[in-house]
Amino acid sequence: MALTIDSERLSRELDQLAEFSDTAAPAVTRVVYSEQDRRARAFLKGLFRDAGLEVLEDAIGNTFARWPGSDPDLPAAATGSHIDAVPNGGKYDGTVGVLGGLEAIRALQSSGFRPRRSIELIVFTAEEPTRFGPGCFGSRVATGAMVDWQAGRLVDKDGKTLDQWRQEAGFEGPLESVAWPEGRYASFVELHIEQGTELERAGVPLGIVTAIAAPACFRVTVEGEGGHAGTVPMPARRDALCAAAAIVLEVEKAARTAGAEESVATVGAFDVFPGAANGIPSRVRLQIDIRDTDRARRDQLMNQIMTACRDCAIGRKLTVRAEPICMDAPAECSPEITATLARAAGTHGLAWRHLASRACHDTLFMTRVARSGMLFIPCRGGVSHRPDEYAAPEAIANGALVLAEALAELSA
Ligand code: HGY
Ligand code: MN
Ligand code: MN
Repeated sequence: MALTIDSERLSRELDQLAEFSDTAAPAVTRVVYSEQDRRARAFLKGLFRDAGLEVLEDAIGNTFARWPGSDPDLPAAATGSHIDAVPNGGKYDGTVGVLGGLEAIRALQSSGFRPRRSIELIVFTAEEPTRFGPGCFGSRVATGAMVDWQAGRLVDKDGKTLDQWRQEAGFEGPLESVAWPEGRYASFVELHIEQGTELERAGVPLGIVTAIAAPACFRVTVEGEGGHAGTVPMPARRDALCAAAAIVLEVEKAARTAGAEESVATVGAFDVFPGAANGIPSRVRLQIDIRDTDRARRDQLMNQIMTACRDCAIGRKLTVRAEPICMDAPAECSPEITATLARAAGTHGLAWRHLASRACHDTLFMTRVARSGMLFIPCRGGVSHRPDEYAAPEAIANGALVLAEALAELSA
């Protein structure tokens, strides 16, 4: 089957999508349910309809663009990713899987291929944890990893609820309507930038993912006693920021000494109260993100970090509270899907290698409900979640081409 990827059009659409951002180029910031997110969604739905796809949205904004197959009642073959971007992020994280998926479908359409199983392109809502805390929120709820009443309790840092946000963005309907019935999909493949350096260093154009790391994330609140920066003697202080700083260094030390490159831990959000230069901080809120592809090793690191949090606070006569945001199990990709991807790459003479994903993705949750896998393309220097995130047009076209070939097999 002669498949042609229109790389020009794909690059143009990625550039257009990147314009829907709350920060100036080259940075992209697009937080779920923001005005820019809504504009980006409208842009994409236009492209989906131009490609003759049937477009549906659920009560939280997961978006489904379906190419009906000749046997539409069969479980569909799906692909997709996300379009929300972290603050000051890049333009390729997630969007390559959405627009690359659309391009794969258009290439199949123009080749004369007709699917037996429907092919569905999914845009998962809120893959990034930015607004509500848990990452992969849309796929979590759709696959039943988070039930409706848990989702209903989500609020942002200002206390605005998920319901307020989603209804303002035009997504109505009960949260319980989001969860999919059993057997909705026969397979799922996500195309994504690697967000690491393995493919680039090896000079290999494609990565076939075998396992996906999963985060254990916590909101930690350290509480001490405020006071005047000039008049409270040092021995009398219960400074929440000093304790929180000690915690941050303990988190780093625990991950650095965990003995495996896949063991990582990060404090990426940190909020000091009251934030006065001449006031002793009385409260600090921080978020800890702990990951590994090996669950037992991750949980061991997590326990070590929780103990360090307690010790840092108690040693300074402060209180510390750690509230879990998510504690997901790492997942294996389906060997059938990895074999399909290897065949598809071979058909187009493209080299590939197996690798683990150390970033988390919606595929982590899709493995719960369908045979799932991921296809990686290299990104420059492995950089991601930064404005200089970059994937070459040829790399993206390779990914879309192999994805199209795989979807042809999975929907036949
Ligand atoms: O955090 C992650 O791995 C993904 O970018 N949400
Ligand atoms: Mn990301
Ligand atoms: Mn992503």
